[in-house]
Amino acid sequence: MKHILKCHEMVKHDIVRGENCYLYDKNNKRYVDFESGIWCTVVGHNNPRINKKITEQINKVMHLGYRFTNYVADEAATSLLETVSEKDGKCIFLCSGTEAVEFGITIAKLVTGRNLLLTLSDSYLGAYGSAGMKYGNWIEIDLDRCLKCQETQCLRDCENLKDTSMDEIAAFVFEPGSRSGKVIFPPQKLIDLIVNEVRNSNGLIVANEVTTGFGRTGKWYGYNHYGIRPDIIAIGKGLGNGYPVSAVAMKNDIGKELEKSKFRYVQSHQNDPLGCAIANEVIKIIREDDLVDRSHKLGSRFIGHLGELKNRFSFIKEVRGRGLIIALEIEKSNDRFNVELIFNEMLKRGFIIGVDPRADLMRFLPALTIEESEIESMFENLDAFLEKAD
Ligand SMILES: Cc1ncc(COP(=O)(O)O)c(C=O)c1O
Repeated sequence: MKHILKCHEMVKHDIVRGENCYLYDKNNKRYVDFESGIWCTVVGHNNPRINKKITEQINKVMHLGYRFTNYVADEAATSLLETVSEKDGKCIFLCSGTEAVEFGITIAKLVTGRNLLLTLSDSYLGAYGSAGMKYGNWIEIDLDRCLKCQETQCLRDCENLKDTSMDEIAAFVFEPGSRSGKVIFPPQKLIDLIVNEVRNSNGLIVANEVTTGFGRTGKWYGYNHYGIRPDIIAIGKGLGNGYPVSAVAMKNDIGKELEKSKFRYVQSHQNDPLGCAIANEVIKIIREDDLVDRSHKLGSRFIGHLGELKNRFSFIKEVRGRGLIIALEIEKSNDRFNVELIFNEMLKRGFIIGVDPRADLMRFLPALTIEESEIESMFENLDAFLEKAD
């Protein structure tokens, strides 16, 4: 890795091969991947159906100039819109989650003619652009305060909102259950309140489903848990199962309005047949193998199991999860015991678990195709280690 720029923490492990929820290093040591890469491989690494589709498509055509229509994109759009229950909607295929969120925000501003965006504090909306930097035109609702507060009519008292009229808000950009990887699910009452206020002032709802979409939460999308119908939905990660394709789906009236306007978006990799073929196949696999339901059922047992650990070990502070997006938070770490120690020990034992040392958090987002026996085996190892540490 001499010539790879180091711009985040790295673990020195040469992974050379993957298969479903397994990764293998150059010495053929096997790891069970509880992070799905970085929350992407919903139908597993090296999925044979996806590989077959990729081979078929690259033998036809991978990329086209954006002026040319292609039926692969059209097919993928039809199936994607079915997953968001917007059969008459419109969608565009892009490259990354960041680009999808950025695009969703841009069109929300264009359609409403407003500039201000509302979100919950500590949302992760992307790595760059106005989604990443949040410069200037964002208002954040302090979710930590809201999580403690039982009041439901307090939005008007929110410190950050007190000098703003709801009429200025273009959209509420809602990340339903990741919160920068901390796996925090905003309370229903708060979301109802915000959504009603924003809608009553003719603002839009943009759901950022980059992490919570594609069955991850035990429903197709994270917003499905809240009974809302967003106007614009940004989708990424699981859509490409590790291949960089993302999408923005929108209600029909928004698409029509954009097409009527002078809006132009021109990017080299837009509706590329290869990405679209992959996306379409991922959707088919999730449907045919009933993976959304599997995520819900496996996730419930997983969360139950972690709950049992919490009852036994006083240093486990909280267990949170929906479907197969799950977190375990420990009490304040110290030098003798912290999440990095757990991470390193589990890695030695052949399990890749997500870790956020700043939040004292372990995270589990395995492929929706993971075998239950691998979950059991991870628990046996985690249990044995925690027992020793207690
Ligand atoms: C909720 C959320 N939104 C947006 C992004 C950005 O997606 P990408 O890394 O594909 O650009 C991420 C990435 O982790 C994410 O978790």
